[in-house]
Amino acid sequence: MTTHLISLWDFNKEELRHYIDRALVLKKEAQEGIRHQQLMGKTVAMIFEKPSTRTRVSFEAAMYAMGGQAIYLSGKDTQLARNEPLKDMARVMSRYVDGLVVRTYGQDIVDELAAYATVPVINALTDLFHPCQILSDIMTVLEVKDQPLEELKIAWVGDGNNMANTWIQAASRLGFELILACPEGYDPDAAILAAARAEATKPITVVRNPKEAIEDADVINCDVWASMGQEDEQEKRLGNFQPYQVNSALLASGKKDLTVLHCLPAHRDEEITDEVLEGPQCVAWDQAENKMHIHKAILEKHILEG
Ligand code: CP
Ligand code: NVA
Repeated sequence: MTTHLISLWDFNKEELRHYIDRALVLKKEAQEGIRHQQLMGKTVAMIFEKPSTRTRVSFEAAMYAMGGQAIYLSGKDTQLARNEPLKDMARVMSRYVDGLVVRTYGQDIVDELAAYATVPVINALTDLFHPCQILSDIMTVLEVKDQPLEELKIAWVGDGNNMANTWIQAASRLGFELILACPEGYDPDAAILAAARAEATKPITVVRNPKEAIEDADVINCDVWASMGQEDEQEKRLGNFQPYQVNSALLASGKKDLTVLHCLPAHRDEEITDEVLEGPQCVAWDQAENKMHIHKAILEKHILEG
């Protein structure tokens, strides 16, 4: 059976933990010089309709490190740019490669590719979700905090965007507390929030005040104020989001060991100050590294097991 990774909703707690636990093992093994070639002879196509530094390179590096191959296709390089139907693309690509890693706009695009592909489709970011990123972010949290995930309180400050939506799914499935501070008009997706709350064992709360969100929090997350595809809103958002900047004044109101996450790319002195991004509480560089280890765990599971 083909198992896609297009939304965290498709996995239970144990399955989500598997990616993280396996990535921690693969990271340790890589540090010890242990190499695997489990994807020898396997190829993935990377269909990216939006820019990427980390996700693209860490997926490609993960494939090569495990003996496989990756073919990168930017949005403008395929016949999708000339309106070839997604269902045709999915079926043709399935005859050539062992998996599709897709970064695009609508979640409906990865849904349709997955409906027609006979090889696994992995969501490398849509407007709605960024599942691979949240798995590596949680892996990073577990490396830093000496506590079970279920005992941690995680805060999100800023836009209720694809990252926020995916944190909400993760909080619900993995059972940790999540509090989001978003400006009015920039809340996370209401349907995702409702579905998450319906099964959550810990509170998932949306507030307006960033200080309220980080009170007693163990981790604070931030992300750009204008995501890819929202460039024309950049100016307006700069004004609306200013009170949500993660800076030293905000951190001063939180716990001393508050850990700062940023998935990158960062806009210094917009959503996060240079001081905080470069400061001792920020683990953005570990998050970036961990993307490669998580991607190895994802590829191993989906490409080997189908
Ligand atoms: N965090 C992340 O997805 O980065 P890229 O856009 O560079 O892939
Ligand atoms: N919310 C951001 C995440 C970038 C990794 C975006 O979609 O552009």
